[in-house]
Amino acid sequence: MAADVLIVYASKRGSTEQVARRIGEALRGQGLSTKVEEASDCRDLAGYRAVVLGGSIYFGRWHRDARGFLHRHRTALASLPLAVFALGPGKNTPEDFEESRKQFEAALEKAGGIEPRAVAVFGGAVDPEKFRFPFNRMPKTDIRDWEGIHSWALTLPAGLGLEVAPRTESVPA
Ligand SMILES: Cc1cc2nc3c(=O)[nH]c(=O)nc-3n(C[C@H](O)[C@H](O)[C@H](O)COP(=O)(O)O)c2cc1C
Repeated sequence: MAADVLIVYASKRGSTEQVARRIGEALRGQGLSTKVEEASDCRDLAGYRAVVLGGSIYFGRWHRDARGFLHRHRTALASLPLAVFALGPGKNTPEDFEESRKQFEAALEKAGGIEPRAVAVFGGAVDPEKFRFPFNRMPKTDIRDWEGIHSWALTLPAGLGLEVAPRTESVPA
């Protein structure tokens, strides 16, 4: 049986994958079952109740595997609740976030016919050791806001229209 929520990510250096996995943990904490996998590996959306798709932005473009996922699964996604997120900004400034948001919105608009129920841009992370010259000269940064990511994930069950079964606690007789 498919999990309740499919969480797919398109990540070059792993920081988006970590965010996707953290969102999965938060949703499981809410009583939903999840499957977390690379966007390019996913062939079929049958059986899922909702999809969360995340990708990093490089040089103004959302990761091609995230864009490819939207295109490949456009028919199934027309009738499945979808949430999307992007990782990008390297600095915690309104200007950096605004720039990344514009880049992300442009990608979603270009995808056409996509109506996500939730959209988020999270600060990104760069580990120069994972890059070759000249990007290995970039400063090491990580402005991922784990609390903000967790809070966003907690809005997803309602935002995606998923009913979460109340936890049953055993009461001692
Ligand atoms: C060479 C390079 C170019 C980048 N270009 C952008 C960009 O145009 N817009 C943006 O918002 N973030 C940009 N970023 C930031 C990345 O999206 C961010 O570091 C993200 O966390 C990387 O995700 P990943 O580890 O999953 O690949 C860039 C990062 C690098 C190293």
